[in-house]
Amino acid sequence: MTDPAYFERMYTTSDDPWHLATNPYEKRKYDVTVASLPRERYRRAFEPGCSIGLLTALLAPRCDELIATDTVAEPLVTARATVPASHVTFAQSSLPDWPDGELDLVVLSEVLYFLSADVRAQVLAHVVRSLGVDGHVVLVDWRHPFDEAACTGDAAHAEFGASPGLARVVEHVEDDYRLEVFGRA
Ligand SMILES: C[S@@+](CC[C@H](N)C(=O)[O-])C[C@H]1O[C@@H](n2cnc3c(N)ncnc32)[C@H](O)[C@@H]1O
Repeated sequence: MTDPAYFERMYTTSDDPWHLATNPYEKRKYDVTVASLPRERYRRAFEPGCSIGLLTALLAPRCDELIATDTVAEPLVTARATVPASHVTFAQSSLPDWPDGELDLVVLSEVLYFLSADVRAQVLAHVVRSLGVDGHVVLVDWRHPFDEAACTGDAAHAEFGASPGLARVVEHVEDDYRLEVFGRA
């Protein structure tokens, strides 16, 4: 698993170390992500690794309740200012920590490949256990290897695809990223 100090360091060099707010690639990917949600509305959603809250802002109008977390506190200050909605809760928390209760949307965007195989397995178990019968889990991940990643996005997606508890309902693959949505099998 990527050392948590890596993310702390990234946010000391910049408020937006991955240029999420300025790179047109990210903006388009966020738009494709929300366009891929099979349902118009969700009751209770969880978005770990939310960073500065840009995808959170697009998810918020689709959710009655949205819990967004990041392992680093600093980007959550920006996220709270970006999404000042009372039904959206931001908290500092690290996967595999998981909210109690049923969820009907989990969004794992550009975070799975930072996790060790053991933590990815715990996250998958949390998804299968907590997802309601009409729920969806969305995975969006950079496909190429890089030094800080524990695996490729494609490898992390394959683990979810192999779960007997999940069934794929959306698959969108580009040269640089893979987006998949799963429901309950
Ligand atoms: C590449 S950014 C992606 C941000 C956002 N999800 C997106 O798609 O634009 C990865 C984020 O995940 C956070 N992160 C890394 N490991 C985490 C963990 N174990 N639990 C929660 N957040 C984590 C990092 O601090 C960082 O803000």
